Amino acid sequence: MAAQGRGWMLLLLCLSFVWETVSWKTASNDTGPVPVVIWHGMGDSCCNPLSMGFIKKLVEQEITGIYVLSLEIGNSIAEDMENSFFMNVNDQVELVCNILSKDKNLQNGYNAMGFSQGGQFLRAVAQRCPSPAMLKLITFGGQHQGVYGLPRCPGETSQICNLIRKMLNVGAYSSPIQDHLVQAEYWHDPLNEDLYREKSIFLADINQERGINESYKVNLMKLKKLVMVKFLNDTMVDPVDSEWFGFYKVGQAKDTYSLQESALYQEDRLGLKTMDKAGKLQFLTVNGDHLQFSEEWFVTNIIPYLK
Ligand SMILES: *[C@@H]1O[C@H](CO)[C@@H](O)[C@H](O)[C@H]1NC(C)=O
Ligand SMILES: *[C@@H]1O[C@H](CO)[C@@H](O)[C@H](O)[C@H]1NC(C)=O
Ligand SMILES: *[C@@H]1O[C@H](CO)[C@@H](O)[C@H](O)[C@H]1NC(C)=O
Repeated sequence: MAAQGRGWMLLLLCLSFVWETVSWKTASNDTGPVPVVIWHGMGDSCCNPLSMGFIKKLVEQEITGIYVLSLEIGNSIAEDMENSFFMNVNDQVELVCNILSKDKNLQNGYNAMGFSQGGQFLRAVAQRCPSPAMLKLITFGGQHQGVYGLPRCPGETSQICNLIRKMLNVGAYSSPIQDHLVQAEYWHDPLNEDLYREKSIFLADINQERGINESYKVNLMKLKKLVMVKFLNDTMVDPVDSEWFGFYKVGQAKDTYSLQESALYQEDRLGLKTMDKAGKLQFLTVNGDHLQFSEEWFVTNIIPYLK
């Protein structure tokens, strides 16, 4: 009798455990935090504990139970870093689209954070790969209109930087360099705007410079928010205006135009004007050099977008 009583007790316990698990799962399906995908910048990697690893931890600490995927392009940290210089960006975007489409955690949608060049690369993901859905995109010091100069390189990569500068000087728009050098693929020469428009295999394509790909526009406009963070004292991005879609006016490299003044916006070639009118574009600034923000700034200004 006593043994039988214990049996029932166990059964009841089991049932209530199962019930709780089931109801918790259903609830978390509706209310669980939206996952986040991170793409690192030039010379960085998915998992450096001082950069992306730190951001991943910080997000996990601020939002309990969140799934954070920091993208690794390649099969090791070393490959990941090398690819940020030498793997064709169109191939990188395709690789990432594949990773995202296979990740079970992302199928109900995700938010994305791109650091430096990772910003424009994730924008390409939004434009080219609508499924799974990117909900919000936050770019930190991204170069949405490219760069015309490589004043500084991050970390211990100065030799690679010198090599890259040489290649850009030899011919940023020659096809062997376009096909293999990441930074050439968002090199925007205001003195040779026609050449850029015609030969840039990545940036000119995603910025609708050679014609309008309607699906790019439709897909980008699906974003709930596009948040662009500009670093006011950035010594790495030339011009800094690019972080908000501005750039040098044609024919010189001094005066700049803003997104709102550009044909891209005024003709609404990419949907940015519509998004702006709908309050979907957010322009943030940081007083500081490239990607230099405090933990406090991040928690106050960025975490709310992820909640
Ligand atoms: C729960 O998630 C599944 C797939 O993960 C989805 O098909 C379903 O619509 C979600 N249910 C609710 C109520 O959100
Ligand atoms: C538009 O972009 C999509 C996605 O990258 C691509 O499959 C398609 O071929 C492009 N269309 C044109 C007309 O270039
Ligand atoms: C950064 O730039 C802004 C605007 O250009 C300027 O007001 C500010 O003093 C600068 N801050 C530093 C630390 O140099």
